[in-house]
Amino acid sequence: MSNRCCIILAAGDGKRMNSANPKVLMPVLFEPMLGWVLDSVKDAGIEDTNVGVITGSSADKVAEYLAARGKFRTFLQEERKGTGHAVMQAESMLSECCSDILVLCGDAPFMDSGTINAAYELHKQQNSDVTVITANVSPAGSYGRIKRDKNTNLLSAIVEMKDCTPEELAITEVNSGAYWFKSERLLWALPQLRDNNKSGEFYLTDTVGLLAKNASTYMADDSIIVLGANDRRQLRALNDMMTEVINSRHYSEGVDIIGHNVIIGKDVKIGRDTLLMPNTIIRGQTTIGSGCIIGPNTQISDCKIGDNVNFNCVQAFKSKIGDKVKAGPYVHIRPGTTLHNNVKIGDFVEVKNSEIGEGTALAHLTYIGDSSVGKNVNFGCGTVTANYDGLEKHRTIIGDNAFIGCNTNLIAPVEVGESAATAAGSTISKDVPAGALAIERGQLNVKEDWYKNKLRLDKKK
Ligand code: UD1
Ligand code: CA
Repeated sequence: MSNRCCIILAAGDGKRMNSANPKVLMPVLFEPMLGWVLDSVKDAGIEDTNVGVITGSSADKVAEYLAARGKFRTFLQEERKGTGHAVMQAESMLSECCSDILVLCGDAPFMDSGTINAAYELHKQQNSDVTVITANVSPAGSYGRIKRDKNTNLLSAIVEMKDCTPEELAITEVNSGAYWFKSERLLWALPQLRDNNKSGEFYLTDTVGLLAKNASTYMADDSIIVLGANDRRQLRALNDMMTEVINSRHYSEGVDIIGHNVIIGKDVKIGRDTLLMPNTIIRGQTTIGSGCIIGPNTQISDCKIGDNVNFNCVQAFKSKIGDKVKAGPYVHIRPGTTLHNNVKIGDFVEVKNSEIGEGTALAHLTYIGDSSVGKNVNFGCGTVTANYDGLEKHRTIIGDNAFIGCNTNLIAPVEVGESAATAAGSTISKDVPAGALAIERGQLNVKEDWYKNKLRLDKKK
């Protein structure tokens, strides 16, 4: 049994988002805000099973998202009566599972594991009943204000903006909505909450006043941790800020980004001296090696890419790319594809669910689907694998050093042996043995003096 648990408040509806989805599932860089929070909790070293999420609005959608991610606990808050009321729903977890409990907002994606753990250190060191994570924000907007005792300067209460006096409104130290509590002290304070405030809600922040005798604050290094979004404009701002944060991390790791509109998802890893060019989106579980040039106008999702790869105007999904692969422009690499080292793919080529051997070239206007292709194969312009018979998909197998002539149709299932060739314009519906040449063409029929004869006939008319 671990001594650290976490409750994430995620019951809010977020009406101003004007979405079919609940607010915590609104994405920042393709990942729901709740996902960012869950990752920070995980990075802080708190196990899934010690995390309870308070659901309410679209609870089923949130629960479905959580189930796909791990073994989290959920607590349904049927009526939305405030953040204190939300935490009360997880009372059973508080009493059974831990001594220290972290409370976070599910809509604050910038909260990071470093801040969480630094606040925890302080919490333990001071042996506090509650440690509030605060930040300096000016103007402080609608955040709860951190009120301090005039004499001791110690935390005395958190006052919500709506309930502030003009003097309190001027305070710039704000509540991030994240706290470490001693769970037994939180259990003691929760039943004492009242909803006699401007919002008529049970404020979690009032527990801080109740525990003020033994409360402390941890001020975050960067006030970005408090940010959340209530509408699409703010969500857009979070996306822009997160892009800055992520791209900046890649600069530190030796990656160059030139121009604009380079958007990188949170889990993407990129090697040193790789250059990213404008209008490039890289997302999912993608890793890219070093010395690559990616973009412009490229989208990559869930791919593993080697070193010194060059992608210009490429769309690649769920595929493995070796070293020194060159692709583009206008290339579509669909799921299940493996391109070995030194593969060359030129304009208007689509590859799907296929393995392409080292040094093979697919230079122009070609579709390769459900195929296993050997090394150093040359595909002429306009090659097509006919992999689908209307009912089932079939495989095409091509051996090393084969030569596929321009405008060849390969009717799968079919095999072209090692060093075999197909003549330009052939439709290959039978296996071609190693070393053979397959020609499938009608006899060429040349009519001499056709034009002259045509003119003569026309004149007669
Ligand atoms: C809260 C804090 C405020 C702090 C701010 C930081 C209170 C009373 N105020 O204000 O001091 O500066 O966060 O962002 O806590 N939620 C529920 N159930 C509810 C109400 C809210 O699950 O009944 C969830 C929301 O989905 C959200 C989080 O709690 O994820 C915060 O709620 P919100 O209404 O946004 O609180 P704020 O008014 O922003
Ligand atoms: Ca909020």
